[in-house]
Amino acid sequence: MAAMPAVTIDSSKLPALLQAMPKAELHMHIEGSLEPELIFALAQRNGVQLSYPSVEALRAAYAFSDLQSFLDIYYAGASVLLKEQDFHDMAWAYLSKCKAENILRTEMFFDPQTHTDRGVPFEVVIKGLSSACERARTELGVSAALIMCFLRHLSEDEALATLEASLPYKDHFIGVGLDSSERGHPPEKFARVFARCQELGLHLVAHAGEEGPPQYIYNALDILHVERIDHGVRCVEDPALVQRLIQQGTALTVCPLSNVKLCVFKDLKQHNLKTLLRQGVKVTINSDDPAYFGGYLNQNYLETAAALDLTAQDAYTLARNSFEAAFASEADKANWIAQLDQTFTRFAA
Ligand code: ADE
Ligand code: ZN
Repeated sequence: MAAMPAVTIDSSKLPALLQAMPKAELHMHIEGSLEPELIFALAQRNGVQLSYPSVEALRAAYAFSDLQSFLDIYYAGASVLLKEQDFHDMAWAYLSKCKAENILRTEMFFDPQTHTDRGVPFEVVIKGLSSACERARTELGVSAALIMCFLRHLSEDEALATLEASLPYKDHFIGVGLDSSERGHPPEKFARVFARCQELGLHLVAHAGEEGPPQYIYNALDILHVERIDHGVRCVEDPALVQRLIQQGTALTVCPLSNVKLCVFKDLKQHNLKTLLRQGVKVTINSDDPAYFGGYLNQNYLETAAALDLTAQDAYTLARNSFEAAFASEADKANWIAQLDQTFTRFAA
């Protein structure tokens, strides 16, 4: 665990520090950033009929009992996305938030099958998203990259067909992931498609241990050969697995507000993030689906720090972990970490 610059920061400054400090976001589904207002605006623009009468009624439906109850509404929300401009506008709204929240790097998940299964061509999805990423780099100074996720409730053959369709646009994304309904859809179901992605030189991640058991984390590591685990919080049920994650330096992209909204933890005070962090697991904080779970990245940092009584050193470790675990060049990471150090030094003054 890297020590923060040798300074003392009063705990009263922690909220301001959390907001000001440079950070990376490594687990955010771009379709999960669609705010109800944008869903309604896009529905009107595209002549899509929604089953909710108003923005307020839609927002009121955001009370989830588990992952599946959320996914049902999340896929319905994504049905308003039809044109390249829609994907661009959605990503641009999130990337503008990144700028405001001092997120220097974001690695955004997207779910092409949610769109191609509705007849939206892969090309439309990827062009809209990647033009927003390019615009973020030039207009906002935010480094943004895309990770293509396979929907695990669908078959591996469908994932392989999606990979095939993506190959003409391979330069537009840096890796692949595995999301959607975890229980009953273990990592090994996707062994062949992940092996192919590894051959193609793509980065590999997978959701595991959000609702699924520790064995899913082992299988994501040993069978899919992933480099990071998305969520992973159920690793605590297996102390040998926790030791392995520490020794290997495998990052967990933890999403505290999501975990509470989807009833993985009863409340934030029960969350195991601090325990894992203090044990030496490379934990990061992320927003998952910010429009649905009550906040963007800084809100996750603020509420988690308050509930778990995190220190400035914890904040430093979390932000530094986010850069170290990013799929970016060593030069970029060193530059971002230097900016992080500068912010901590400035706050001590
Ligand atoms: N897709 C969007 N958010 C997800 C989550 N938290 N888990 C699995 N799939 C998802
Ligand atoms: Zn997720």
